[in-house]
Amino acid sequence: MRISTDSFSMFLSLTSVIVILIISEAEATDRITTTQFLRENETIVSSGGSFELGFFRPGSSQNLYLGIWYKKITTRTVVWVANREAPLTNQSVILKISSPGILNLYNETGFIIWSSNTSRSVEDPIAQLLDSGNLVVREANDDNPENFLWQSFDYPGNTFLPGMKLGKNLITDLDRYLSSWKSNDDPAPGNTYRIDTRGYPQFFLRNGAIEKYRPGPWNGLTFSGTSLKPNKIFNYSFVFSKEEVYYTYELINSSVVSISVLNQSVGVMQRWTWTDNRGWILFSEIPKDNCDIYASCGEYGSCNIGNSPQCGCLDKFVPRHQNNWDSGDWSSGCIRRVPLACRGGEGEGFMKYSGLKLPDTRNSWFNTSMTLEECRKMCLGNCSCMAYARLDIRKGASGCLMWLGSLVDIRETDDGQDIYVKMASSELGSQGKRREAIIVSLTLVIGVSLLCLSLSLYFWKKKHRQLERTGIMSHGSSHTETSKSHKEDLQLPSFDLTTIVDATDNFSLHNKLGEGGFGPVYKGVLEGGQEIAVKRLSSSSRQGPDEFKNEVIYIAKLQHRNLVKLLGCCIQGEEKMLIYEYLSNKSLNLFIFDETLSKLLDWPKRFHIINGIARGLVYLHQDSRLRIIHRDLKASNILLDIDMTPKISDFGMARSFGANETEANTNRVVGTYGYMSPEYAVDGIFSVKSDVFSFGVLVLEIVSGKRNRGFSHSNHLHNLLGHAWKLYQEGRALEVVDAAIVNSIYVSEMLRSIQVALLCVQQSPEDRPSMSSVVLMLGNDGALPQPKQPGFFTERKVVESEYSTSRDTPSSVNEITITLLEAR
Ligand SMILES: *[C@@H]1O[C@H](CO)[C@@H](O)[C@H](O)[C@H]1NC(C)=O
Ligand SMILES: *[C@@H]1O[C@H](CO)[C@@H](O)[C@H](O)[C@H]1NC(C)=O
Ligand SMILES: *[C@@H]1O[C@H](CO)[C@@H](O)[C@H](O)[C@H]1NC(C)=O
Ligand SMILES: *[C@@H]1O[C@H](CO)[C@@H](O)[C@H](O)[C@H]1NC(C)=O
Repeated sequence: MRISTDSFSMFLSLTSVIVILIISEAEATDRITTTQFLRENETIVSSGGSFELGFFRPGSSQNLYLGIWYKKITTRTVVWVANREAPLTNQSVILKISSPGILNLYNETGFIIWSSNTSRSVEDPIAQLLDSGNLVVREANDDNPENFLWQSFDYPGNTFLPGMKLGKNLITDLDRYLSSWKSNDDPAPGNTYRIDTRGYPQFFLRNGAIEKYRPGPWNGLTFSGTSLKPNKIFNYSFVFSKEEVYYTYELINSSVVSISVLNQSVGVMQRWTWTDNRGWILFSEIPKDNCDIYASCGEYGSCNIGNSPQCGCLDKFVPRHQNNWDSGDWSSGCIRRVPLACRGGEGEGFMKYSGLKLPDTRNSWFNTSMTLEECRKMCLGNCSCMAYARLDIRKGASGCLMWLGSLVDIRETDDGQDIYVKMASSELGSQGKRREAIIVSLTLVIGVSLLCLSLSLYFWKKKHRQLERTGIMSHGSSHTETSKSHKEDLQLPSFDLTTIVDATDNFSLHNKLGEGGFGPVYKGVLEGGQEIAVKRLSSSSRQGPDEFKNEVIYIAKLQHRNLVKLLGCCIQGEEKMLIYEYLSNKSLNLFIFDETLSKLLDWPKRFHIINGIARGLVYLHQDSRLRIIHRDLKASNILLDIDMTPKISDFGMARSFGANETEANTNRVVGTYGYMSPEYAVDGIFSVKSDVFSFGVLVLEIVSGKRNRGFSHSNHLHNLLGHAWKLYQEGRALEVVDAAIVNSIYVSEMLRSIQVALLCVQQSPEDRPSMSSVVLMLGNDGALPQPKQPGFFTERKVVESEYSTSRDTPSSVNEITITLLEAR
C-alpha cells in the first residue's frame, strides 16, 4: 500500500476518501518503507513465510494490538506484541515508519500510541519482518544485523524464539527478558524471567519483586538446578563475556516449530513443540515441582521432593525454630550446630555436600581461572565466605564460585553438584588423627580404587558407545582406543565409525554429495533423524593424525553464522572424517549457474549471500582468534541453508596464520583454477588478499550467473574478470548482471557490488581491500575507489596450457580443487 507523505495527515481525518486512492503494489511484502503504511486489516509476511505481522484481538478482548504470529501453523500463536500496554480501541490504526528510523503506531486521532526508538538516524529507513520472527528497523540497503536501528528481539514479550538472546548487554545495559501476559485477553506484562547480574549471573522468575523460581547458575553444561540436556530439538548456549551475558538456543531442524513461553495462567516457563496432528505439545516446564519454589526450605535447608516432609536441614545444621519447622513452616531455615568462630582460617574446614542445586548466587564472588584449591584457600581466609564450588564442571575446567552469605534455595537433584560448606573443625573430626589413618589405609584404598576404576571405565566406555550411536553425545569426552588423547582436548563429539557407516548407508554412491578438497562428501542421517554431511578424507591425503587434529581444532573453534558448523569427527584406524551440519539447499553453484534455479535467487537474495560470505570471511581473517585464510573459496564451497543464508565450508585447505604474519609462502599450492590470485597460483604466496581475490571472482559470478573459468564471449578472449573490467571501463557495468534478475530498484546495489568485486580482483595484493573494508563498502553509500586492472584476466589460455591436467575434462570437473606440488 502506498500513500504520499503529504497526504498522510489528511488521511487521518479523511480516511474514507483517501482509501480509494490507495494503490496496491507487488513489492516485497515483508517490509514497510517510508512511503507505505500498514492498516488494521493488512499484514506483512516474512520472506520465508514463517511469520506474519499485523493487528489482532487477543482472546475475547475487543482491543486491537499490533503483533507477530506464526504464519505456517494453524493455531494462531502470537509471539510478540508491540503496544502491550496501550491497546487500540478503534478500527482506524496505522503503522508507519518515518525518517530518522522510528516505527510509529497511530490511533484514529493521529496520536502516537506506541513507537520503537533508536539512538541513530538514517536516510532511508525500512521496517522488515525477518523469517526468524524478528521485526527490525534498518537502513534500506544495510542488512547487517549489527547496524539495525531497532529490533523486536531486543524487547521480547512472553515468547523466547530461536535465535533470541535472553540476557544483558553489559556495555549498553540493554536487558532482554521475558514477561508473561496478564491474561489470555491482556498482553500487558505480568511475571518476568530475567537475568540478575548481582554476583554470578543467574535467571529469576519473578512476580513483581517476588522471586518465584531460579534455574540455578550456569555450570558450563547446564543450569545447576534444571534437567536441561543436549536433545534432538534444540542446541543451547550460555554466553558470559565482558560485553554480554545471555542464554540462547537454535533449532536443530529449522523446520521444526518449538518455542519457550512464559505462561501467564500457571506462571511457569514452558517449552512447546508444534505437531501438525496434535497441535502444540508440551516438551518441558520449569519450575517443575514444589522443591523448585524459591527458597522453599529457607536458609541452609535442602528440599528433596521424594521425602516427607520435603524439607530438611543440611547435615550438621539444625532448624532455627524447631517448633515452626515441625509444624511445616520451613521459611526460617536452619543454622549451624556449631557456630563458626572465624579466626583467620584456623579451626575451620569444609564439608562437601553432593548432588545439590547450587544456592542463590546474588551474594557471591567468582573467578573463572582459579583452581578449586585456590578457591578453598581464599574462602578459608575470608570470614564472609560460607561456601565454595566449581564454577565450571566441565572436564578440565574449574573456576571458583564463593558464597559471601547464607546459602538459600538448595534442593537435591539427580544431576546436582558438589558444594563445600565452611564448618567448625569440631564438626569435621580431628584432621591430625585422620592424616595417620589415611597413610595406613592408603595402599588398600589404592588397590581397591584401581579395581573399581577399571571396572567403571569399562562400563562407562560401553555406555558411551551406545550414546555415540544415538548421535546425541555432545561434549568431547568419548573415546575410541585408537586416538584417546586426540579427542580429549578437542571438546568436540566423536562419532563411532559404525554410526557413520549406518548413517551414510555404507558411503553409498547415491548419498555422495560431491568431492571436496581432500576427499568425497556424503550425506547421512543419524538414527535420531538428524541430517549430516560427512567429509571422508581420502587415505591418499598425506595428512597425518596430528595435522588432522590441528585442522579439527581450528574448525571446532570457529563459530559464525556464515560458516558451516562442525558437529564432530571420526578417527578410527586409517579413516579420518569430519561431520558437518547438512544444509538443505546444498551449494551456491547449483543455483547461480543453473538456468532455472538461478531465477529463485533474485537480487536481494544474491546481495544477502554476498554480504554473508563477506562477513564470514571477516570473521575468518580477523575476528576469530585464529586468523584463518581459507585458500579455496569458490561457489561450490558456499552452502546455503533453508533461508538462503550462505555458509562457507570446506576448510580442508585453511591455514591459520599468526597475528603478526600477513602472508606466507607455500610449496604446496592448493586451490581451484579461476579463483586463484596470480601471486598465489604463480609464486605460491598466499595471504588474506588471496582470499579477497577469490571473493571478488565469486561476487562477479553471483552477479552475472556465469563461471569465471570457462567464460567465453564472441568479442574477446577475456575471462569473466576481463569481461567485467572491459564493460566497467566503458561505463556499461550493468551489462554484467544476470539478465534474469535485472531490476531497476537495485541498480545502485548491483553497480556497487561489481565495483567492489573489481577492487578485490586487482592485480596487486596491496591494492585489494581487506574483507572488513569490503563489508563497509557493500553496506554504505559512500564513494568507492576506482579499481585498477584485474589480475589474470586474459591469461586464461596460458594458465590452462601450463597445467594441462584438466584440459579436456568436462567443466564440472574443472571445479575440483587441485593440489600442486612445486619443486622449490
Ligand atoms: C528504548 O526504549 C526503552 C524502553 O522505553 C528504553 O529502555 C531504551 O533505553 C530505549 N533505547 C534507546 C536507544 O533509546
Ligand atoms: C582470578 O584468579 C587468577 C588466578 O588466581 C588471577 O590471576 C586473576 O587476577 C583473578 N581475577 C580476578 C578478577 O580476580
Ligand atoms: C571477602 O571476599 C570478598 C570478595 O573478594 C571481599 O569483597 C570481601 O571484602 C572479603 N572479606 C573479608 C573480610 O576479607
Ligand atoms: C525436519 O522437520 C521436518 C518437518 O517436521 C521433517 O519433514 C524433516 O524430515 C526433518 N528433518 C530432519 C533432518 O529431521
